[in-house]
Amino acid sequence: MKELSQILKNKTPKSKIRELFDLAAGRSDVISLGIGQPDFDTPRPAILGNIEALKKNITHYAPTRGIPELLEQVGKKVKTINGIHTEPSENIIITNGGSQALTLTFASIFNPGDELLLFSPNFISYFYLGPFFGVNVKEIKRKEDFSPNFEDLENSITSRTKAILINSPNNPTGYTFTPQEMRTLKDIVLKNDLYLISDEVYENYIYEDDLKHISPGAMDDMFERTITLNAMSKLFSATGFRLGYAVARKEIVDLMEKYHQYTVAGTNHAAQYGFLEALKMDNSFFDEILAQYKERRNLTYTCLKEMGFTVVRPSGAFYIMPSLETFNISSQEFSMRLMEEMGVAVVPGNIFGSFSDNKLRISYATELDKLKEAMNRIADFIETL
Ligand SMILES: Cc1ncc(COP(=O)(O)O)c(C=O)c1O
Repeated sequence: MKELSQILKNKTPKSKIRELFDLAAGRSDVISLGIGQPDFDTPRPAILGNIEALKKNITHYAPTRGIPELLEQVGKKVKTINGIHTEPSENIIITNGGSQALTLTFASIFNPGDELLLFSPNFISYFYLGPFFGVNVKEIKRKEDFSPNFEDLENSITSRTKAILINSPNNPTGYTFTPQEMRTLKDIVLKNDLYLISDEVYENYIYEDDLKHISPGAMDDMFERTITLNAMSKLFSATGFRLGYAVARKEIVDLMEKYHQYTVAGTNHAAQYGFLEALKMDNSFFDEILAQYKERRNLTYTCLKEMGFTVVRPSGAFYIMPSLETFNISSQEFSMRLMEEMGVAVVPGNIFGSFSDNKLRISYATELDKLKEAMNRIADFIETL
């Protein structure tokens, strides 16, 4: 038979993560610190909004860009929360989660051979999407504390560089950009005539009082060259709704709409009413949840440090990325054995780029009691090394 897609077969990074999670199959004692899924219930207004829409037989194709009420509501949200001023019908498109907002961005701004720069380690999908669109993803190694290395970034820019992609707060490192870093980034983007892709799905998960989420698309001269992505998934613990959005200048959203039309023909119509109701909520519903996540962050960081890991205290998202440098074991072996011997799932760092082979990604989106138990098991495991 003729050969199947080379891009899908060969050009994507290899990961043994499936093997790791296969080890969990059929076991009831496993505590998963592997997945990026918030553990609280999706707020009722979101669910009821969806149900009410279904009761009204809203079961047919939605407008390709999204229902006008939702576009307006997202427009209000990005204006009041992010400081980005839009014409919703021109600058916003509703997507199937943050994932598809990323796909639309790659589809609309890149040509084969273009280069994309990002700080590494970083979110796994960025590395896969590059080859899908013929884009060369260049990794800029983060500093030891996971902060961005702007000197290396500038030195890596070539005539083929089209864009920089950031994700702050970050999956997997938990790093959040400071205002000064965002200004430095902006200067580099403007000086080199680049686009900036800003994945903001963790904007609400910041634990330090002196840090605030910054949307670069709201900075002077940046709207035209910034694509801002976000989703319902993390703030509303609604990863299964599969809804998100992209904000960009009109020409970019027009191209996104084309790709959207001919690949998925829109997003779930009734679910958009759920997202609409969720966005109408006052974000104070999240205060108590954030406090709990902060407690989990503190617990995880303290335990890992006490166990002897070299670990940076994350300021945002719900991940922590300890280094295994004090233990003589690879991240792949550590994760496989930890799962097999102790029933705790953590993700080996090598799937988040080329510079995190000796690191683990641990998600602390898990209730405190389970988290404590998982930390005890990891401590027991370390004793066996
Ligand atoms: C940084 C980042 N961007 C995008 C996504 C995808 O979001 P969604 O589940 O809404 O597609 C994730 C999911 O974990 C993520 O961590």
